Amino acid sequence: MSEIRSGMRIGLGTGSTAKHFVDLLGAEVAKGFECLCVPTSEATAAQARGLNIPLTTLDDIDSLDVTIDGADEIDRDFQLIKGGGGALLREKIVAAASTRMIVIADQTKLVDTLGKYPLPIEVNLFGLTATEKAIAAVMARFGAEGGKALRKKADGETFVTDGGHYIVDASFGRISDAKALSLALLEIPGVVQHGLFIDLCSDAYLATPGGTIKLSEHPKS
Ligand code: A5P
Repeated sequence: MSEIRSGMRIGLGTGSTAKHFVDLLGAEVAKGFECLCVPTSEATAAQARGLNIPLTTLDDIDSLDVTIDGADEIDRDFQLIKGGGGALLREKIVAAASTRMIVIADQTKLVDTLGKYPLPIEVNLFGLTATEKAIAAVMARFGAEGGKALRKKADGETFVTDGGHYIVDASFGRISDAKALSLALLEIPGVVQHGLFIDLCSDAYLATPGGTIKLSEHPKS
């Protein structure tokens, strides 16, 4: 909460870690803290509404002071993989509209090289087979070590994002050039967005057994 000031416009992330932050923010709002927030998913919106956190949209305001969100992986250059919870499209739109994006995560999310966590790729339903074929070609070009799978829910139904799209989880194993991969995936017409967050995160707070560390103060190794 040390990064948050009264009167700020705040993007609210999605996932189990962001959920803790929204709970803390709700407790502050109950004490009179003023803010205006944009949620990155229907789930976060419902949580925030339940806590009486004032909400708006990026149709009504065009920028935010800060977004607080979790991550599935973060490297020492603050590049991220996100989308494990399926909210990557709105998360990226909100992060891009924010002056700062601060990641909060367990220290296990810190990696030397992105890619062990399967990269979520949000795809349009139209032309799905052709899009999957094009993704497979990009994976081969970038030396992916694993395969890909259309994301399913626990009940076996295909997972559908808040935007009405599917997600393909692509196992790269190791992503050596995240920027080039990002561009290659975005060149596929059926790809709506992917979970590589390049140059969006400005700071990260990592929970360690010894307490929380700020990654920007963490010595690069
Ligand atoms: C949601 O789509 C994701 O980007 C989450 O922010 C990310 O998966 C981290 O989630 P956890 O905090 O639950 O690990």
